[in-house]
Amino acid sequence: MTEVRKMYTDRWFKDDKQFNEIYPAYIRALASRHWTPLVVAQKAAAFLAVDKGSKILDIGSGAGKFCLAAAWYQPTCSFFGIEQRKDLIRQAEIAKELLCIDNAFFLHGNFTKVDFDQYDHFYFYNSFYENLAWAEKIDYALEYSHNLYRYYNFNLRKMLADRPDGTRLVTYHSMEDEVPESYQIVGMQLDGLLKFWVKAPER
Ligand SMILES: C[S@@+](CC[C@H](N)C(=O)[O-])C[C@H]1O[C@@H](n2cnc3c(N)ncnc32)[C@H](O)[C@@H]1O
Repeated sequence: MTEVRKMYTDRWFKDDKQFNEIYPAYIRALASRHWTPLVVAQKAAAFLAVDKGSKILDIGSGAGKFCLAAAWYQPTCSFFGIEQRKDLIRQAEIAKELLCIDNAFFLHGNFTKVDFDQYDHFYFYNSFYENLAWAEKIDYALEYSHNLYRYYNFNLRKMLADRPDGTRLVTYHSMEDEVPESYQIVGMQLDGLLKFWVKAPER
């Protein structure tokens, strides 16, 4: 990236208000509830980017804010997002282009179909919460149910449990329904909203 390009991209990362301007108004309006704040992305990315070349998956990547910010803060790692809403993938791709970021990638689909073997570490911002009756929704284009909430948590817990020891996970605003017992908390910040986990050997 040229010096001029870098200066241009740096400006977007001044603060959340500035970053969110990269999105159209309807995506910006969802930011405070649904997209990771920059300070959280920076802390989470620093923990997950433990080795150069690590591949990190954001489970439910929305408009791409976590992946794009993490990719900017940790340029030696690659950040992947899986997202069920196609329009959000499109917004993530547009933002990626504007930011000239080349180490973030977005996949459209359901995380249950993703091969977790392709990734080293994981980020999760309470993606299934929308399924709870009282939760604020991103939109009303999908069906929501408590059964789906339970089904997704069951699957993610199993997929994470199958990862090798040493796998890192960051959760933000999690109720921990998706975290297997084999993961231990090794750090906590922001009054416990942000948790850092490592998979330990089964006892
Ligand atoms: C709280 S938002 C977080 C977005 C992004 N991780 C960030 O922090 O900027 C959760 C996202 O997960 C997505 N999601 C929920 N369930 C999903 C599933 N089963 N498969 C893929 N994406 C899912 C939602 O559509 C939503 O965009």
